[in-house]
Amino acid sequence: MRPDTPAPVRLEDYRPTDFAIDTVSLDIRLAPKATQVRARLAIRRRDTAAQGTPLVLDGDELDLVSLALDGRPLAADEYTAAPDRLEIRALPEGPFVLEIETRLDPDANTKLMGLYRSSGTYCTQCEAEGFRRITYFLDRPDCLSVYTTRIEARESDAPVLLGNGNPVEAGRIEGTDRHYAVWHDPHPKPAYLFAMVAGDLARVSDRFTTADGRDVALNIYVEHGNEGACDWAMDSLKRSMRWDEEVFGRIYDLEVFNIVAVSDFNMGAMENKGLNIFNDKYVLASPDTATDQDYAGIEAVIAHEYFHNWTGNRITCRDWFQLCLKEGLTVFRDQEFSSDMRSRPVKRIADVRLLKSHQFPEDAGPLAHPVRPRLYHEINNFYTATVYEKGAEVVRMLKALLGPEDFRAGMDLFFDRHDGEATTVEAFLACFQEASGRDLAQFSLWYEQAGTPTLTVDSKYEPEARRFTMTVRQSVPPTPKQSAKKPMTIPLKAALIGPDGTEMTGLSVAGAEMTGDTLHIRNPSHMIVFSDVPARPVPSLLREFSAPVHLKSDLSDADLLFLAARDTDPFNRWQALQSVALSALIKATQAAASQRPITVDPALVEAFGANIADDSLDPAFRALCLQLPGETDLAREIGKDVDPEAICQARRQVRATIADALAETMLATYTAMTSPGPFSPDAAASGRRALRNVLLEYLGHGTGGQDGTLAQAHFDAADNMTDRAAALGVLVHARLPGHEEALAAFADRHAGTPLALDKWFTIQATAPFGDALETVKRLTAHPGFSMGNPNRVRALIGAFATGNQSQFNQADGAGFDYLAEVVLGLDKTNPQVAARLASAFRSWRALEPERQARAEAALRHVAATGELSPDVRDIVDRCLQ
Ligand code: PHE
Ligand code: ZN
Repeated sequence: MRPDTPAPVRLEDYRPTDFAIDTVSLDIRLAPKATQVRARLAIRRRDTAAQGTPLVLDGDELDLVSLALDGRPLAADEYTAAPDRLEIRALPEGPFVLEIETRLDPDANTKLMGLYRSSGTYCTQCEAEGFRRITYFLDRPDCLSVYTTRIEARESDAPVLLGNGNPVEAGRIEGTDRHYAVWHDPHPKPAYLFAMVAGDLARVSDRFTTADGRDVALNIYVEHGNEGACDWAMDSLKRSMRWDEEVFGRIYDLEVFNIVAVSDFNMGAMENKGLNIFNDKYVLASPDTATDQDYAGIEAVIAHEYFHNWTGNRITCRDWFQLCLKEGLTVFRDQEFSSDMRSRPVKRIADVRLLKSHQFPEDAGPLAHPVRPRLYHEINNFYTATVYEKGAEVVRMLKALLGPEDFRAGMDLFFDRHDGEATTVEAFLACFQEASGRDLAQFSLWYEQAGTPTLTVDSKYEPEARRFTMTVRQSVPPTPKQSAKKPMTIPLKAALIGPDGTEMTGLSVAGAEMTGDTLHIRNPSHMIVFSDVPARPVPSLLREFSAPVHLKSDLSDADLLFLAARDTDPFNRWQALQSVALSALIKATQAAASQRPITVDPALVEAFGANIADDSLDPAFRALCLQLPGETDLAREIGKDVDPEAICQARRQVRATIADALAETMLATYTAMTSPGPFSPDAAASGRRALRNVLLEYLGHGTGGQDGTLAQAHFDAADNMTDRAAALGVLVHARLPGHEEALAAFADRHAGTPLALDKWFTIQATAPFGDALETVKRLTAHPGFSMGNPNRVRALIGAFATGNQSQFNQADGAGFDYLAEVVLGLDKTNPQVAARLASAFRSWRALEPERQARAEAALRHVAATGELSPDVRDIVDRCLQ
């Protein structure tokens, strides 16, 4: 590590603030290049703080204009002001009022943190540490205050003025072209939940009546012209509000709920109290521009941000180490919501795919960290798959171990006891411990230990003794700064499937506690004995993916294919087929690497065929079963000396082989899945499209599809984005005749719709051919592309670096060098997005030696650059450690 690296923040150093800020009154006078912010803070020293302790407030690139204490301007020797810090000495003993005036330049704010402009609209982003870019403050989540915000702007520039909480007052300022609005939020909140918006926006409105009979005004604000694309988001919002009342007993607590969609946003969306600000990608949807996946994403993110109102806002985090307390829990809640809105197994499979493709690699590489980290250099880099997705898995496991009743009782206790507080993971777990009477000390290791545990299961059946024995062993791998690990509590949902395909019931079990169908694995090794087992069963293990672990079982391919066809848990049917496909792909990769011919086991082909034609199964589920494990799944499974080119080749070849073997069945089902009538985004209709499109992908890559006619016809006939983008993907990724014409037609059609054009960028960036890098470079000059817009950067460059493994990791290192260059350039304007791009290097150590050396060189080049942001510095340092 470089000597100039600033000291990290450590969990063990937490101590409460010396001062409390009870109320915040802001007066914000907006102007593009010189916005005036006056903050009036009512402050008192806490009893615990020694007299004479100075008040030290956080700042970031701030320009102080004036400062007054209890109405008296402060003399130069009474304070020290720097852009990142304000220290005030000589304070009264009792409460006092501090008035701070700062001047901001929203137009120049390219970091998209603090107050900035997106397409002319003024908006804010304060999580995690953006409020300190607006005014000096105790910018930490345990400083809770009641906010009143007055916003003033030129009426013609910004007819809409929005703040947190409820509207109080609004009007014109006589004799000027300006107007104002005052908002008051009665719920004490940390500064990261502050927001304001001002702009010329269109509004879509609706209403909601809460379970306790209160009327809430719902508004979605978008750029003019996008009013027609808000219906799905509004519908999702109303369903979320109802669901949280019904499932968690949580009722909304203000008179209005506002959502604003902006096109320049670093993340997905933000749960600011009463004023959610969204990346427009997670609001706008029309059949012509949004895919089924987009619709599902909007539903999930709208719900997620709404659910934060209780898990995050009413109960917030004591410090940023507790981030999973709001994020893991809220992801769990949005996953449950989507499961209830759609098919539960389909949702679970989608979530597990995401977990395995994003979180497992993170946990296996140099950026691995616990769900609750103990140390950070840059908190922005901890909005990770581990905190969010693994954090949600931990809550899910808690529910599995406690059962639904005790889980709900624990949640109720948490809401009761901690409402209005900034709290910790310990306090959360204590509620479940009390509600269930279970000791959760060992379980809490899930928050402390990084790395994906491995569960190894070996089984044997003794017919004479009618006994089935499973030996279950767990191990947790070493991760950065955590070499020795303790055994964890792992919920292992299991059932024994008899030869006739039914679950064996009424068995007696010894060797581990079992509640319902869940075994509680706690020791390094368990010998679990089932008695009175009438025939050799096949164990169905880790049902519903009951824990985020690697499962290594001694089941044969034949056993797995039996489960794929017969398991009563749909998730495990999918998982079993994936396991067989994964081992086939690994064999194929070895063959590709040593230039041997690639063959596919006919039994696997047969299993795929049976699945395609099984009309008793939900089409959405069949579509998921047919999707081969991805390239990153393979890389993860192979683990070291990874050759992404060989993986890509093998996977393409296996797909083509399956397509050729099953062409007839595929075509028949493809045709049967054609949906007449108008587009509908519901789960059933989208499932049919998903199955049809996955079949098109096979057929397009098979021999019969090489003339391109099927994919072209699919493209031409598409009346919605799901089908159009799927067809374009096949045409481009299989390089079929007509792909250039289709690209041109798509670009033409969607030239004016940036979110739609993003798909066009992504499809080209992820084409696995030797010219992909050149294409990406060329497209950065396309008029629809902009390095200043995070969505464009992710759609083109992010997609290349994470979604085109063979080309990003090409052997000559050109992909690495390019990414390094982009990271360095972008770091100067938007460090957060630059750091996220840089984390595409996270699996570099698993590559084969030649590629490893090239990746390391690129990383070292970035690391050796002076003037890096803390964000990028942190990622490259950890990658290299
Ligand atoms: N808290 C936001 C969410 O739900 C994510 C976010 C983090 C947004 C930081 C902006 C900045 O999930
Ligand atoms: Zn969140």
